[in-house]
Amino acid sequence: MKKTILTALAVSVGMATANAQPKLTATNIDEIIKAMTLEEKAKLLVGGANNFFGDQAVVGGEADLVAGAAGTSPAIPRLGIPATVLTDGPAGVRIDPTRKGTTQTYYATGFPIGTCLASTWNTELVGKVGEAIGNETKEYRCDVILGPGMNLHRNPLCGRNFEYYSEDPLLTGKIGAAYINGVQSQGAGVSAKHFAVNSQETNRTGVDEQVSQRALRELYLRGFEIAVRESQPWTIMSSYNQVNGEYSMGNRDLLTSVLRDDWGFKGIVMTDWIGIRKGLETIAEVQAGNDLMEPGQPAQVKEIVEGVKSGKLDIQDVDRNVRRMLEYIVKTPSFHQYPASNQPDLNVHAAITRQTACEGIVLLKNAQFTMHNAQLAAPCLPWKDGKVKTVALFGENSYNFLSGGTGSGCVHTPYVVDMVEGLKNAGISTSKTLTDIYRKYIEYARVKFQAERHPANWFQQEMFGQQKYPEAAFTPIAIGKEVSEADAAIVTIGRQAGEGADRDIATEFNLIDIERQLIADVCKAFHAAQKPVVVIINSGSVIETASWRDLPDAIICAWQPGEEGGNSMADILTGKVNPSGHLTMTWPMAATDHPSTVGYADPVAVAHNEDIYVGYRYFDSFGKEVAYPFGYGLSYTTFDYSKPAVKVKGGVATVTVTVKNTGAVAGKEVAQVYVTAPRATLRSPLRS
Ligand code: BGC
Repeated sequence: MKKTILTALAVSVGMATANAQPKLTATNIDEIIKAMTLEEKAKLLVGGANNFFGDQAVVGGEADLVAGAAGTSPAIPRLGIPATVLTDGPAGVRIDPTRKGTTQTYYATGFPIGTCLASTWNTELVGKVGEAIGNETKEYRCDVILGPGMNLHRNPLCGRNFEYYSEDPLLTGKIGAAYINGVQSQGAGVSAKHFAVNSQETNRTGVDEQVSQRALRELYLRGFEIAVRESQPWTIMSSYNQVNGEYSMGNRDLLTSVLRDDWGFKGIVMTDWIGIRKGLETIAEVQAGNDLMEPGQPAQVKEIVEGVKSGKLDIQDVDRNVRRMLEYIVKTPSFHQYPASNQPDLNVHAAITRQTACEGIVLLKNAQFTMHNAQLAAPCLPWKDGKVKTVALFGENSYNFLSGGTGSGCVHTPYVVDMVEGLKNAGISTSKTLTDIYRKYIEYARVKFQAERHPANWFQQEMFGQQKYPEAAFTPIAIGKEVSEADAAIVTIGRQAGEGADRDIATEFNLIDIERQLIADVCKAFHAAQKPVVVIINSGSVIETASWRDLPDAIICAWQPGEEGGNSMADILTGKVNPSGHLTMTWPMAATDHPSTVGYADPVAVAHNEDIYVGYRYFDSFGKEVAYPFGYGLSYTTFDYSKPAVKVKGGVATVTVTVKNTGAVAGKEVAQVYVTAPRATLRSPLRS
């Protein structure tokens, strides 16, 4: 009897201990850290989402939390620590649009790509996009969107420029901060990426970016700094590449001294998606201040545990990172058990993407033109009041309009409005036979050219974004037949690019022969009948324009403007919206004009010989001719600027200028202020 009582006592004592296990709250992080075993601490620092590398997932089942999401931070249910879900980014929530066992769909809004967002120069509008993306992140049961992309456009050939904002760090920082504040206002987080100097894709996991401290501070880090100071991102993603001989992921100077000590960053740093790296220990990443290893491999947990046991890794470093992880987790929708609806309001968000794209589209040329049915010359655009009723639409991307780029930056959108639909919605039809032929060609190409364009690049598959198909050639005779069918012609020149590869000059930066011929032949035939030709550039990045820009009457850079692309373009063409987008990077005469093009995508080491002379800082300072300068963009109206007044107070200069619309239609203008360093002892750019 006595023995039974004792046993019962022992059992109840054991239960009491078990019941006393703390559960994570916003205020008991110290207690939780004390209660964690070494294994649990190590586990929390290693992503637990998937089978990326054929490993066993660290925590079973988390991979299925949200199908198609990029990764998770692991759960520790014993202590009430939920898994959190990380999804790409940045142009919208990238999750699988369909799931096994249900007919429900999970399409997400495809917003304009980074360059298009930045070209609005409108932080308020970008903030609205951020809010909508934050809302979709949360409603689709995710916690963090893996964006914004904040690397600089060091060179126009970078395959991921479409995800990034600009060659200018101030613009990058301001647009990035607006996006981040928008997302985070919804109670979801961001991961500003890729920290730092991930300005090329060629051998991005190995290349060493050799860059001076000055260029780092003034250019490559500056955008991140502004974003940290003005928006405190929940997370930052360290880049794959090396900076001055050290992988960013293990770079204590970058991840701790600069990011946290200098700028006051309070969030977590997660790695980019590489798992165990050759030549870099997970231990070194922990020490450097990389809090979360993505996508996570069990061997990394083991390495951390053994590191602590052997004395190679200080438990204080582990605890510091664990604390930051917990501080992040208590902010997340998962922690708050947010009841995700899986039904964000896609219609409301479609309206936001349409408006934003309109403000990011840049009018590059709008020459005077005398139409066959008019007496006087007038600017070619807008096509108002039934001036153009039918358009002959050339170029495969008129029909396969690219809403965004490829790779992790693509979004599975519910639809993409192409140019035929966009024009139709605006009351303009397209010539029938030509439309039919192209539509059939796109169907054919979809089947025939699958995975053929970049066989070496696994990102070039439909699941990683819309593909660009080879351009179809038309004889001058066939083009001539279209002239009587239409009042005007459009030629869309499309470019696709994305993660894992940079662009080449001959076929991706420059126009290929078929495209040149198409523009030349269409212009010749339509001009002979006094009918105008507009070229639309549907690309995430800069292309060569100098050799052909004299031919068409108008040129519009549509970028990759999101799922409502055709509607946004029609709004601009018809003057429903007056263009106000301005370039956020220089359009050079030739790709080789950028000093960084020499040795640009070296797979081993890239010496930044141009130093601080990136983008317009170079072209201006060295008086080099460009096709379209940084900040350029036309409008359907004209503006007058008053003489600027400058007030300096407490080291802050305020510039005031009155901008007056002197034209006949309403419009928006981007007032830009540049400064020149006075009496500089250091060599400085002519203006910045
Ligand atoms: C990309 C990141 C992305 C991650 C997760 C990486 O390969 O570089 O930008 O967020 O994959 O998909």
